[in-house]
Amino acid sequence: MTETIRTLPKFSPIRTSVAEQVRFARQLDRSGDYITTRKLSNYIDSFAGLTELFNHIKTINPQGTVLDIGAGKAFAISELNMSEIGNGLDYLATVLTRPQNASIPAEKIISTTAENLFGIPNESITGILSCYGLAYSVAPERVIRRIDEVLVDGAPLKATFYGKILSPSLQEDYHGLQDSSRFLWELKRLNYDIATQKHMAGEIVLAIKPGGKCTISASDLLAQDEKIYWDSFQKEK
Ligand SMILES: C[S@@+](CC[C@H](N)C(=O)[O-])C[C@H]1O[C@@H](n2cnc3c(N)ncnc32)[C@H](O)[C@@H]1O
Repeated sequence: MTETIRTLPKFSPIRTSVAEQVRFARQLDRSGDYITTRKLSNYIDSFAGLTELFNHIKTINPQGTVLDIGAGKAFAISELNMSEIGNGLDYLATVLTRPQNASIPAEKIISTTAENLFGIPNESITGILSCYGLAYSVAPERVIRRIDEVLVDGAPLKATFYGKILSPSLQEDYHGLQDSSRFLWELKRLNYDIATQKHMAGEIVLAIKPGGKCTISASDLLAQDEKIYWDSFQKEK
């Protein structure tokens, strides 16, 4: 059995530090210190486009399931459900603090950490989004290993991170806030096809799980989404 947080001895240092971070994150959720209310348009901005990502997910399975990790109030995932880019797919959101009055069914919102992803069967997820949701984990390697277990072959992860230079005080305030480095190392170790892009003072990571019949590279997928995203601004002018 693959080792995840729940399979570690109760008082192991890593399990204790994950538990502390999650407790702290729940306090921030309750106090409103996180931005947890991004809508689909904010997600599209934060991810520099999602259109090609969703087209790719549909080529893997047109009725597949997209998971949003650290979904906040689950506004974006609710809208994706009804959007042109996201229609036909199924959705799940993970949260640490359950949102009130979410507009997706309660069973689609799972209370679990990124390190555990409890209740999400292995090889059941066709694509993962995480909008500033992974960066808070104190155990990036475990997050990636668990993500790898739940994704089907050829499926993408698109995640946003804060910039490479996080001030010590910001890291302190957010209890170990990470840049993408340790996540990227683990993705590389698992042979993911990886592309990164600087965006909005932060970074976008796109990683495609090996296997499957993937016909597009992570860098092409990222570039195509970005082109559609910037072209949409030109059209508006
Ligand atoms: C900045 S908010 C982003 C929320 C949402 N994605 C959005 O953009 O509106 C970060 C979220 O990550 C969640 N989070 C923090 N640590 C986490 C962990 N270890 N596992 C899963 N989620 C975590 C918090 O509960 C918080 O709601």
